[in-house]
Amino acid sequence: MIIAVDGPAASGKGTIARAIAAHYKLPHLDTGLLYRAVGQTVLDRGSDPASEADAVAACDFADAMLADPRLKESAAGNAASVVSAHPKVREALIARQRAFATQNGGAVLDGRDIGTVIAPEADAKLFVRATSAIRARRRHDELVRAGAKISFDKVLADIKARDLRDSTRATAPLRQAPDAALLDTSFMSIEAAIRHAIQLVERQIAER
Ligand code: DC
Repeated sequence: MIIAVDGPAASGKGTIARAIAAHYKLPHLDTGLLYRAVGQTVLDRGSDPASEADAVAACDFADAMLADPRLKESAAGNAASVVSAHPKVREALIARQRAFATQNGGAVLDGRDIGTVIAPEADAKLFVRATSAIRARRRHDELVRAGAKISFDKVLADIKARDLRDSTRATAPLRQAPDAALLDTSFMSIEAAIRHAIQLVERQIAER
């Protein structure tokens, strides 16, 4: 069973994907982490995320990089959003994501293009969204709790810039797959969002 969870930054898709994976006892892959690893590797090498050649060269990042706590920071997120627009970077990361999705027993993957490009054959697809102001509030709270000194306005501006870049790029833009169930978490608690998400998945599996 393959379950695809897509959505914009800070929509709650990661939390929801992890909860679905635990519910069905499936492995989970946060695909944003791969792009963040490429982005951080580019920054560490002093290269330019806007250069496709530099970003492709960074796709050979060491697996240990995936555990680097800096990947959670906004610098890595912004660099990830830039490198992920390069078609050759997306191409370099496809095989790894598809292998994870099709391994024995299935998997839950979250990202931007899982239901549209990585696993269009997924058994269940969710598209998770929330207003940009609510996503910025959640992300800001998270960053402040982690000790970051950043204003709400800066976080909101970052989220809007990322939404625009992720949804207007030519290759695999952020988009709801036609057969994905929409889940708007704007006014839901985490618990309610998870409960709804599992119901939507159950319904899609039953309808197959
Ligand atoms: O989900 P996230 O915030 O960790 O993702 C970071 C960036 O990576 C995001 O702005 C766009 C890119 N990304 C992507 O293009 N495709 C994916 N499947 C996942 C992330």
